[in-house]
Amino acid sequence: MKVLILAAGLGKRMKSKYPKVMHKILEKELVNWVIDTAKELNPTEIGVVLGYKGELVEKILPEGIKIYYQKEQLGTGHAVMSAEEFLNDEDILILYGDTPLITASTLSKLIDKHKNTNADATILTAILDNPAGYGRIVKDENGKFINIVEDADASEEEKKIKEINSGFVIFKGDKLKNALKELKPNNNQGEYYLTDVPKMLENVETYVLEDFSEALGINNRIQLANAEKILRKRILENLMLNGVTITDPDTVYIGPDVKIGQDTIIYPMTFIYGKTEIGEDCEIGPMTRINNCQIGNNVKILRSECEDAILKDNVSVGPYSRLRTGTVLNEKVKIGNYVETKKTIVGKGSKAQHLTYLGDATIGEDVNIGAGTITCNYDGKNKHKTFIGDRVFVGSNTALVAPVKIENDVLIGAGSTITEDIPEGSLALGRARQVTKENWVFNKREKGE
Ligand code: UD1
Ligand code: CA
Repeated sequence: MKVLILAAGLGKRMKSKYPKVMHKILEKELVNWVIDTAKELNPTEIGVVLGYKGELVEKILPEGIKIYYQKEQLGTGHAVMSAEEFLNDEDILILYGDTPLITASTLSKLIDKHKNTNADATILTAILDNPAGYGRIVKDENGKFINIVEDADASEEEKKIKEINSGFVIFKGDKLKNALKELKPNNNQGEYYLTDVPKMLENVETYVLEDFSEALGINNRIQLANAEKILRKRILENLMLNGVTITDPDTVYIGPDVKIGQDTIIYPMTFIYGKTEIGEDCEIGPMTRINNCQIGNNVKILRSECEDAILKDNVSVGPYSRLRTGTVLNEKVKIGNYVETKKTIVGKGSKAQHLTYLGDATIGEDVNIGAGTITCNYDGKNKHKTFIGDRVFVGSNTALVAPVKIENDVLIGAGSTITEDIPEGSLALGRARQVTKENWVFNKREKGE
């Protein structure tokens, strides 16, 4: 089976400079939701029909997707005709770039019915109390499919039909290919309707959708927000049913590709996106945002931001930390209040608990980074590296001017500015000597100054 996704529409009602299918739900573009659902069905190939500003959509598509262009939007049938070379004698499932709520499990049932009945086409339908706007499924008294009538072309009598066309349909590829050659735009909208194809075929089946919300399309930003709500709920409930505690699902946002282990607790106002993986027994949040991170077991992250970082087991982060791209925290590392890290590897058991910036640094094991330590990694033109060995103690308010190398077992006095490499086992002090003038204040006072 192949999957063809129609995504040429401009989406006028989005009132956007960008194609509709590029708008995002939980940080993932609509068209990519549909592509990922299609992938779950293991098709031999996935094709996408693009139109309005398609070159922008192309950039966000995963590799291996066949791309076709529909220059003018002359209807759903015309969109499929634009991908004619994609069609062969394999079955072809038609999906839509603006209808991301459809599930692989529903589509599998549609495909099963199609195969079991050896149909030429099988249409996913729904029964609606208010069918206005949708194409209606016309059947004979025995329930045998006759045709689909678009709302714009329906008679008063046909408008009363409650079974509607969801748009999702699977065809025998060769039958579709032949029928498209005969398709004419003889209707009130002057469009080539894909819905005119089934009546040209002999054996057409229908499969009724159980949960109509799966067929909801997105035409404006209110529908975009509603769809996000539904998809978010689905993801959170699935996680909860699989052993993740989410204390307040109303304020937690988790993307579709996030994986979370058993007995991890997600606290309120937490946002987890991208390809993030979180292990077991972690505590995440409240008020935390994580994107594309690999997180081990028993990790605690409180009120922090983490992006493209790796956190091994038993790490603790926050409150108010910011882990930026390229951060690696090995086991039992503690990153505390107001600490920022970037492209920095921190060895096992090391700590940076307060008010620190660590950038372009490699830090060994059991290191203590004192409060207010700064790696001065940028000279205005280039970034430079800081190396810190094992068991180093960096006194508070130290500036490490990179490039600089601090070997194992070094102790740096508080308030130092370190500009030179420090050999193993040394004490380094890089600050002005203190001057104390005894009784200076009292003497001044006596003179009445
Ligand atoms: C379509 C169906 C209708 C069904 C409804 C369900 C047809 C003729 N009608 O109507 O029976 O009840 O969906 O929502 O198929 N598209 C293109 N190129 C085009 C036209 C459309 O790529 O030239 C894409 C759109 O981007 C959209 C989808 O196809 O994603 C559906 O098109 P739309 O015009 O919204 O069809 P409806 O009128 O809603
Ligand atoms: Ca539509």
